[in-house]
Amino acid sequence: MRAHNFGAGPCTLPLEVLEEVQAEFVDFDGTGMSLIEMSHRSPEYEAVHDAALGLAREVAEAPEDFEVLFVQGGATLQFAMVAMNLLALEQKAGYVVSGSWGKRALEDAEPHGDVYSAWDGKADSYTRMPRSAEIDIRAGTRYLHVTTNETIGGIRMVDIPELGVPLVADMSSDYLARPIDWRLYDLVYGGVQKNLAPAGMAVIYVRRSALDSARKDLGSFLRYSWHAETRSLGHTPPMFSIYIMGKVLARMKRGGGIRAVEKTAAEKAAVLYGVIDESAGFYRNPVDPAVRSHMNIVFRLPEEALEKEFLAASEQAGMVGLKGHRSVGGLRASLYYALPMASVEYLAEFMADFQSSHG
Ligand SMILES: Cc1ncc(COP(=O)(O)O)c(C=O)c1O
Repeated sequence: MRAHNFGAGPCTLPLEVLEEVQAEFVDFDGTGMSLIEMSHRSPEYEAVHDAALGLAREVAEAPEDFEVLFVQGGATLQFAMVAMNLLALEQKAGYVVSGSWGKRALEDAEPHGDVYSAWDGKADSYTRMPRSAEIDIRAGTRYLHVTTNETIGGIRMVDIPELGVPLVADMSSDYLARPIDWRLYDLVYGGVQKNLAPAGMAVIYVRRSALDSARKDLGSFLRYSWHAETRSLGHTPPMFSIYIMGKVLARMKRGGGIRAVEKTAAEKAAVLYGVIDESAGFYRNPVDPAVRSHMNIVFRLPEEALEKEFLAASEQAGMVGLKGHRSVGGLRASLYYALPMASVEYLAEFMADFQSSHG
């Protein structure tokens, strides 16, 4: 039996993809070896690689003037790499600090350029997103960095700021689960281990004009332009992540693409917010309702002891990953792309039953 996996990443992957991988694992396409045993220069692997690059562009609906890159190191490397590449000496970058990840992005960029906090939601305990008018853009700002979904706080940026400054976005935890308004961005990045693939890399979409003006005085791996020039094959890429991501993206495409993913995500989230809102305060979600995440639903119970009991009982009932992030406590259900609606309904029913017996 499959677990109901509400993990915040790594997390559940589509069962049909796992089964397909299993079926072809030991002997990929008659080669007598698994895909991860073969050369990354082999025609078989290159076909998988190019198909994944193509699907990453197609599903995201990325325009031709964006390059798609696969880079090891996850989103954390991108925190530094963005500033290293895009910030010239006389330029600045603003960061919207909407939670833990926005803060990390700013801190990791600090050694690499003149970066500043353009808005910080700390006063409201990171429960809301800024209005455009609240964002402070200083003269000489090369880009404004935003986090489209704060995985720990369970808050999403609904209105993407249009302030005449190119955006850079960390989309790790709602990657390809909502359409991307490409006009606004110079660069979009995210780790793959939530909606797309096993951990091991980030997918980056970068505007070609931003590559042209990027810094060149960096080691090859640290230059976006090098990954673009080599089709992310300049070194040994994370083949397993790319291989599985290709299958997940193909499934997204078959299912109706990014808009269908978005619609299902909203429906799944609405089920749990419904239970929370109808619980007469037994379950509490601290986030401004207008910007509640569709991916990470955070909630508290009246007492910590009850939360512990809830968690233990949920595990007994076959659910995993419901513990809130260690920095904030409480509970968190992550409803990424591959999590079936049936798992969400199972949790919703469990929450209602738990309230009946403990409320
Ligand atoms: C929004 C966000 N940004 C960045 C990261 C860090 O990503 P990685 O672990 O791929 O470096 C995470 C991880 O959970 C995240 O949720």
